[in-house]
Amino acid sequence: MFIRHETLERNAFLFIVFTVLVIAIGGLVEVIPLFTIETTVEHVTGVRPYSPLEARGRDIYVREGCYVCHSQMIRALRDEVERYGHYSIAAESMYDHPFQWGSKRIGPDLARVGGKYSNDWHYAHLTNAQSVVPESLMPHYAFLAHTPLEQNDLTARLKAQRTVGVPYTDDMIANAGADLRAQADPAADTAALLKRYPKAVAVPGNGQYVTEMDALVAYLQVLGTMVDFADPANEKLHQ
Ligand code: HEC
Repeated sequence: MFIRHETLERNAFLFIVFTVLVIAIGGLVEVIPLFTIETTVEHVTGVRPYSPLEARGRDIYVREGCYVCHSQMIRALRDEVERYGHYSIAAESMYDHPFQWGSKRIGPDLARVGGKYSNDWHYAHLTNAQSVVPESLMPHYAFLAHTPLEQNDLTARLKAQRTVGVPYTDDMIANAGADLRAQADPAADTAALLKRYPKAVAVPGNGQYVTEMDALVAYLQVLGTMVDFADPANEKLHQ
């Protein structure tokens, strides 16, 4: 074995041929599964583009680097599924550009944090995490509650997402501003918003202007709630 390897190492041409062969095999192993991408992303019901307010909240999440401490990817391991809920499926992040799977877990996974806490809890927690979880080491984001949310570029942002494949319709883009305000105003009529974005969670807002914290909480509240795993249409996921 070693003698044969020595022959290989001493013959540059042979060595190149074998190196190329090994790299080619590695390359094929990486590339071939992509040809079956249609079957890799499951067809499930419920996954929709983020509402304008959620999408802006997601931008804040990325800007503030929440992914530095939080993952959004529940692995198919028993302890994770028991702690966080159904493991993450590819379809759930198909409209995430860029995806937020993360690689660090200084804090808990957030893939299914939607609906776990009330809006009030999130406002209190983001303002001062230690006020609700005394031993928390999460930084304070109180400033988000009095920073008005930039909305001028809203339609441009949605259109950019559409360019990379998120199916925002013309109707969604035309109503982006109205939908955003409806989701952050408790007195607003949310029927049209919910028709376009089922399960969108309305946040209370401060009654004067929409804040970055409103957007962030709306985003957190929808995480992991889009796919209804009890729906018979999604039954094959349990196999
Ligand atoms: C320095 C690391 C760090 C950063 C940055 C961070 N967090 Fe956290 N986060 C934590 C830790 C630790 C916990 C667990 C203790 C707690 O609940 O406060 C936590 C908990 C949470 C929870 C509750 C999760 C649950 O299931 O109980 C949410 C929601 C959350 N963080 C959101 C955010 C958001 C949004 C941001 C960005 C604005 C952020 N975090 C930034 C460390 C961090």
